[in-house]
Amino acid sequence: MSGEPECHSCTGELKSHAYIVSNRRMAFVGCVAFFTLIYHIGLNFSSPMLSTVFHSITRDENFLEISPTLVQSTNSKEIFSTFYSRYDDQKIYLARNNLSDAELLVLASHAAKRKTCRDGGRIAFLFITRGDIPLEPLWQRYFEGYIELYSIYVHAAPGFKFPKNSLFSGKEIPSKDVRKLSMDLVDALRTLTAYALLDDTACNSWFVLACESTVPIRSFSLSYAYLTNSKISFVDSFHPAREWLLDGWKMEPELSRQQLRKGELWMCFQRKHAGMIVGEQYFYKKFMIDCKGASFPDEEYVQTMLSIYDPQGIANRSVMFVNWTSPHSSSPYTYNSGIITPMLIQNFQNLTLDLMGMHQDVGGGAGVQSSTCLYNGRSQSPCFLFARKFAAEAVDVLMQMPSSVLGY
Ligand SMILES: *[C@@H]1O[C@H](CO)[C@@H](O)[C@H](O)[C@H]1NC(C)=O
Ligand SMILES: *[C@@H]1O[C@H](CO)[C@@H](O)[C@H](O)[C@H]1NC(C)=O
Ligand SMILES: *[C@@H]1O[C@H](CO)[C@@H](O)[C@H](O)[C@H]1NC(C)=O
Ligand SMILES: *[C@@H]1O[C@H](CO)[C@@H](O)[C@H](O)[C@H]1NC(C)=O
Repeated sequence: MSGEPECHSCTGELKSHAYIVSNRRMAFVGCVAFFTLIYHIGLNFSSPMLSTVFHSITRDENFLEISPTLVQSTNSKEIFSTFYSRYDDQKIYLARNNLSDAELLVLASHAAKRKTCRDGGRIAFLFITRGDIPLEPLWQRYFEGYIELYSIYVHAAPGFKFPKNSLFSGKEIPSKDVRKLSMDLVDALRTLTAYALLDDTACNSWFVLACESTVPIRSFSLSYAYLTNSKISFVDSFHPAREWLLDGWKMEPELSRQQLRKGELWMCFQRKHAGMIVGEQYFYKKFMIDCKGASFPDEEYVQTMLSIYDPQGIANRSVMFVNWTSPHSSSPYTYNSGIITPMLIQNFQNLTLDLMGMHQDVGGGAGVQSSTCLYNGRSQSPCFLFARKFAAEAVDVLMQMPSSVLGY
């Protein structure tokens, strides 16, 4: 265990009963993946499309009207009018560290609606970590050459500062302690998202949540194209079939059991969903007060809330590979240097079905939901842009991997 990097959510991850994925099914995945990758990569990510992304997109960001239950606190109107009567976006961004939590969230949810990113915008990488990011050399390699297309925000332990020469230096946002099995992880996500929304020096159109054990498994340009050309956000969200997951907390009347959704916290979402994540209060309060017992707020609140407000707007799947197949403890499988090979990475890249994600573990298996990866409606598309969990000590093995394998 020692030296193993932990995404915070790993601490809140399920003590679940294992769901066995048969070897036969795994072999099948490999074959299907092999035969469909060339076809889909060829079609989806050919260079004409990339050049479209980089040069000529004028996207009409048709943000959802924020419904009355979003941002309905009694003082949110007041906060809004007070600030915008006195300050412009730039001043609000400069004052961001001086805002109360409520002010920050209200102003960020308005910023999500006010600003649109005309040329595709930047991808904001939101890191939730305890301290160091030992896999940083990989991120440096990944971002190389794309300085204008990404931005970084880090929620580390309070007071933690990255060394001056780090990619993450100066990207720390004011943070709070993150306790297990609480809304703290959700709060960290909301604060990171709020900072990224208010950042006037960047126009962030997409948001990628990552942790210290996350690794990109595609080139930046391919990930950028994959995300900014997607009509919907990638949020793992499924109905948890296992009854014990529903025990121990009083959902009704605000939320019915049928409405509850579960999924990985590590998600990628568009600006309109970023606005909902910072602005939603009704279900936030419900989870904050009543999500106790067998309830895991970080794996349920955002997943449930977005599926209620915008069910067609989320893919219900993740673009982050994770292996929840048995046997596992409270965390998914950790990849150590001993088993990391180019074949393993290519195997992740080639997957067009997700048979190892969390829904296989606690969703009642593949029968509950199709495991094929849809991309803009097309089934059996490449599923993954990132993967976790990689051990800190795996950094050297990963860095030795040629760019012909990693894509960067
Ligand atoms: C933020 O507050 C500090 C003191 O708490 C003050 O020195 C600083 O000027 C304020 N910054 C802005 C942009 O309002
Ligand atoms: C995601 O799941 C919801 C049900 O929670 C469903 O209504 C919606 O169509 C699904 N989205 C996609 C893109 O399949
Ligand atoms: C997934 O994790 C299991 C252990 O839980 C391991 O035996 C298996 O090899 C892993 N599969 C892949 C494809 O890495
Ligand atoms: C993945 O796909 C590539 C390209 O189609 C192929 O060359 C490679 O052998 C596949 N690797 C694995 C492990 O599936």
